[in-house]
Amino acid sequence: MSQREFQHVLLTGGCGFIGTNFVRFFLEQRPDARLTNLDALTYSGNAESLRDLEDEPRYRFVHGNIRDRPTVDALVRECDAVVHMAAESHVDRSIQDASPFISTNIGGTQTILDGVRQAKGDGHDVRMCYVSTDEVYGQLPLDRPDLLFREDTPLAPSSPYAASKAAGDMLCAAYHHTFALDIVTTRCSNNFGPYQFPEKVIPLFVTNLIEGEPVPLYGDGRNVRDWLHVLDHCEAVLRVLEGGASGEVYNVGGNNERSNLELTHEILRCMDQGEEMIRPVADRLGHDLRYAIDAGKIERELGWEPTRSAWPGALEATIDWYRENDQWWRRVKSGAYREYYRSQYGRTK
Ligand code: NAD
Ligand code: DAU
Repeated sequence: MSQREFQHVLLTGGCGFIGTNFVRFFLEQRPDARLTNLDALTYSGNAESLRDLEDEPRYRFVHGNIRDRPTVDALVRECDAVVHMAAESHVDRSIQDASPFISTNIGGTQTILDGVRQAKGDGHDVRMCYVSTDEVYGQLPLDRPDLLFREDTPLAPSSPYAASKAAGDMLCAAYHHTFALDIVTTRCSNNFGPYQFPEKVIPLFVTNLIEGEPVPLYGDGRNVRDWLHVLDHCEAVLRVLEGGASGEVYNVGGNNERSNLELTHEILRCMDQGEEMIRPVADRLGHDLRYAIDAGKIERELGWEPTRSAWPGALEATIDWYRENDQWWRRVKSGAYREYYRSQYGRTK
């Protein structure tokens, strides 16, 4: 399909990590367009992150749940595109309790799809971009560095989180096939950058070290992730939304693989801390060994490539952001967060 720009985008989950960055990125990149952000403000949603946009006429925040069909229907009708990224997003929490993952990531995605279907039935065509994840592919072995996830790699999710995202992914494919909805999907690797909830490994380790606390490394630290700066991801989502072929999936990756041990050493080095700050803890159940992305399709077809993800610069800049914005994460790391931390890290190896 040809490139098109949308006048009014409905974003779900805009008060989360990637959402907050996407709101800012989109308003900056598309100065004539509007964005409505639908977010339920769960534990990982933070309205404070976008408080400075309160008076921006092109931005609107709607406090609501993606499972609320009347709200979704009304908002979809006002927009010409939906970027759907609201989700329960943390693997460890899905291992503690899968229920909210099934409800939001599957039921919520169905509600959005039904809203788009209803709008199309009423003569109002809306393009939808589903922000999926590389975790839908499952894991790669550690001893085959030649293997990468491609868009045609079979889905084989391992965790309840990944299974719920894969179900959403497949619902999108089914609604495209059955109802001819205009849907594109991205599957991205691990993001890092500002505004990430400090349950995820980079902000968790960085903020722990700022507080003088050790960093809880799972298992033997050999598991590998591919790290992409969140703004590179935002740019990829916008490229796919505006130029992706209907019904197609696009992998997004940073070509930036690190074992968790390497990542930990890199953070310790950037923060002038020693190995004694590593606290080995029991491994994550079913811990996926390695994720690695072949992002050739989005590079070839849409001209996207990561430009902000290279280490150590991008990692150092991220660490600086958490140093300079401690009021943001200190507020988050209180109350219910402490309860979660105790339940997740209470046991040692
Ligand atoms: P996040 O947990 O930081 O943010 C999720 C947001 O969704 C929060 O603002 C939350 O309030 C909102 N939300 C949750 N349930 C909702 C509901 N029922 N109704 C409305 N809003 C709800 O997550 P994130 O890391 O920003 O991830 C965003 C999306 O990107 C997710 O779909 C995730 O699967 C996907 N993704 C994330 C990464 C990553 O590395 N973080 C990588 C690939 C894909
Ligand atoms: O790959 C994309 C996915 O990346 C997204 O779909 C998810 O929403 C996002 O949370 C992320 O999932 P991971 O499970 O890879 O991210 P997390 O930051 O939780 O963990 C990264 C690696 O660090 C993983 O191998 C587990 C390890 N880890 C994590 C935590 C929280 C630790 O060793 N200790 C920890 O305390």
